[in-house]
Amino acid sequence: MEQESSARGAAENMSEIPTEFTKLFGIRYPIIGAPMFLVSNVEMVVAISEAGGIGTFPALNYRPLEEYQRALVAIASRTKKPWGVNIIVNKSNSRQGDDLRLALDAGAKLFVTSLGSPAQVIREAHKNGAKVFCDVTNLEHALKVQDLGADGVIAVGAGAGGHAGPVSPIVLVPWLKEKLKIPIVAAGGFASGRTIAAALALGASAVHIGTRFIASTEAGVDPAYKKAVVDATPEDIVMTTRISGTPAAVIKTPYVEKLGTDLPLALKILKDHPLTKKYAVPLIHFLGMRQLEEAALKPSWKTVWSAGQSVGLVHEIMSCEQIVTSLVEEYFATVSSLPTSSCRRSS
Ligand SMILES: Cc1cc2nc3c(=O)[nH]c(=O)nc-3n(C[C@H](O)[C@H](O)[C@H](O)COP(=O)(O)O)c2cc1C
Repeated sequence: MEQESSARGAAENMSEIPTEFTKLFGIRYPIIGAPMFLVSNVEMVVAISEAGGIGTFPALNYRPLEEYQRALVAIASRTKKPWGVNIIVNKSNSRQGDDLRLALDAGAKLFVTSLGSPAQVIREAHKNGAKVFCDVTNLEHALKVQDLGADGVIAVGAGAGGHAGPVSPIVLVPWLKEKLKIPIVAAGGFASGRTIAAALALGASAVHIGTRFIASTEAGVDPAYKKAVVDATPEDIVMTTRISGTPAAVIKTPYVEKLGTDLPLALKILKDHPLTKKYAVPLIHFLGMRQLEEAALKPSWKTVWSAGQSVGLVHEIMSCEQIVTSLVEEYFATVSSLPTSSCRRSS
């Protein structure tokens, strides 16, 4: 308790970190609590937004639709600060229209879109004064969503939790920065104040943090999963196609090692064949999601735990408010430790 209230006191004394992103939302810190399937919940969203960042969650974490609506009402009643929802914008999500409408009715200010085309979300969000940031992993997709009217992109680089992109964030962010007119949010490996300072130096106007928040007191997952995030090193993270057919980052538990990280040959053939692809992809997705759900919510030896390489920067389980506070404190300490003297060219 004492620790929490001193953390609160410290946060209140800290100045803002003003960027294009914080100005867009009227928030103090350029930190998005990234949406995480099975992990993000009402408590995390409220705590991160109240701490000065912006909390988000995947709409599909609450099923059926009535549960989702209850979650939205609960968030709106517990914070007046901006918060957001992640909507999967491809055909696999039959709820897309409802997910969007209910979030707008509840007052969501940020939409994070992943996978397919964000056109509908952008159109409807803009009518209601909300902003849309789209997950991208390369320049082509980033330019496409910029043309569609996205307010910004989330540059998901290598090492991220979930479906990581192939390009290092150190290259991805400045590469996109050279070509885009809209703000860029850096994702993948940002889990400390140092890395936030690096992201802003690269040209990002915010960071999108997932893995760090798994090890939060509010995260609604099994304690063994949180402990695994604290204990793991970056070398324990492997990419597997067994969950959704596309590479996803997971902790290399004995079960993952036993299972292997490739699809079984039969499923691979079905997935790649034009006649069976249509049925195989949803089947792989369904089986993978069921496995993730079992591992995240109940202790089991079948542990498939999703997390990114920034596990190496996570050393303890803290409340979301304490996490935001420590990120901001470390950010200021980092910035003030950078060399500032000007270089003189020798003649
Ligand atoms: C456990 C887990 C679940 C995730 N689920 C989703 C999701 O449902 N939708 C989404 O757009 N991104 C998802 N992501 C990706 C995050 O939103 C974010 O981009 C990523 O975690 C950033 O990298 P970091 O983990 O290194 O912080 C997930 C990430 C993790 C770790």
